[in-house]
Amino acid sequence: MGNTQENLQEAFAGESQANRRYLFFADRAEKDGHPQIARLFRAVAEAETVHARSHLQTMGGIKSTRENLEVAIGGEHYEFTQMYPGFIEQAESEDNKRALSSFTWANKVEEIHHGLYQQALKVLDAGQQLKDESYFVCQVCGYTVAGEAPDTCPICGAPLSRFKRVE
Ligand SMILES: [Fe+2]
Ligand SMILES: [Fe+2]
Repeated sequence: MGNTQENLQEAFAGESQANRRYLFFADRAEKDGHPQIARLFRAVAEAETVHARSHLQTMGGIKSTRENLEVAIGGEHYEFTQMYPGFIEQAESEDNKRALSSFTWANKVEEIHHGLYQQALKVLDAGQQLKDESYFVCQVCGYTVAGEAPDTCPICGAPLSRFKRVE
């Protein structure tokens, strides 16, 4: 066991993963015809979010919007310049095609996220607000775009119908 700062990091990671995992399990439970189990998964997922937020706040991990953008830019940059390139190479060497495409899509999209955050920081530093518009997220690869969804996803080729609007 590490020190409390390390334990907070680990607990935040675990609770965050549990939140996502239970939401995916809830979708599956709905599909399998178990609406109340789906609801249970969603309820516990909500509680894990409460825990994740508390741990992150305790670590001082939620700062000003400017600082949060810098953290986000750093995280996305690490992912597309270091983490995913290494993972892609490893997946290639193991001939794991599914992992390879999952990593490759994520890698391309993290670079786009990095750009979106950088642009947001620039606008913030100029004392302005980002344009008031929806974002659209490809539900296949995660490609994220402001304003309008494309007819075809430029990353994975999914059609317009696979885009989810984020208000
Ligand atoms: Fe990202
Ligand atoms: Fe896509």
